[in-house]
Amino acid sequence: MKFSHKIAKLAQPLTYRRAWRKAERIIHPIPLEPIYARIDQARLAAIQAEYAGSKEHYAKYADVRRWLQLNISRAQDLKLQRFAPRAVLDLGCGGGFFLFVLRQLGHTCLGLDIDEFPLFTQLLELFEVERRVWTIRPFEPLPELDRKFDFVTAFSIDFNRISKQDWWWGPPEWAFFLDDLKRHLNPGGRIFLGLNPGKNKEFYTPELLDFFLSRGASVERENVLFRPKSGEIPPS
Ligand SMILES: C[S@@+](CC[C@H](N)C(=O)[O-])C[C@H]1O[C@@H](n2cnc3c(N)ncnc32)[C@H](O)[C@@H]1O
Repeated sequence: MKFSHKIAKLAQPLTYRRAWRKAERIIHPIPLEPIYARIDQARLAAIQAEYAGSKEHYAKYADVRRWLQLNISRAQDLKLQRFAPRAVLDLGCGGGFFLFVLRQLGHTCLGLDIDEFPLFTQLLELFEVERRVWTIRPFEPLPELDRKFDFVTAFSIDFNRISKQDWWWGPPEWAFFLDDLKRHLNPGGRIFLGLNPGKNKEFYTPELLDFFLSRGASVERENVLFRPKSGEIPPS
């Protein structure tokens, strides 16, 4: 099947799925205000004053309300407000917005990221989100993490590329990464990847799409979800 046909096939029920997801967010809301109210407002105001008008890469993340709202939607789309407490590892966790939301839902959380952007460190401290500092590299295992996880997530992924060279991980790099991730997962664990588009606006090459599908992933645009095989599904 041609790549364009494959993409079209994946896209067919997309409108329906998007509409259903929107409806589900309304049916199972996670209100922003109680989450926002848990933040130390004086510290947040100081951080926002520091980055107001800043040209620094990622200064946009000082707009905490906006990013919390986005991460509430992410939690809703993964149905995490409907699961009993789970252990979640977020790779490339940035400022920790997603994990901060999850903690309010009763989940236990660990972020993993490089330590390059002071704003992310300030936000993680503000949110009291634990981060393991680590650089993910192709064909290198993740560090020992002294616990296992029910969900491993990674949103707006950046660790799979050298953007200046427009070099992206292909199936061999992803195969190593996913195989290594297995040892960090509890039985029935799930992996969610939110990919960034390349310069050509595509999220994957035909080969990479085939690879994700061959590994049993559900793929919807940038979203790649590996669910447990039947028989491995833990109680919700
Ligand atoms: C676009 S930001 C997304 C942050 C967060 N996931 C979100 O959606 O708000 C990409 C993140 O990936 C992290 N990152 C980039 N390269 C990485 C690497 N090699 N290993 C671990 N994290 C990396 C960055 O520091 C940054 O936090």
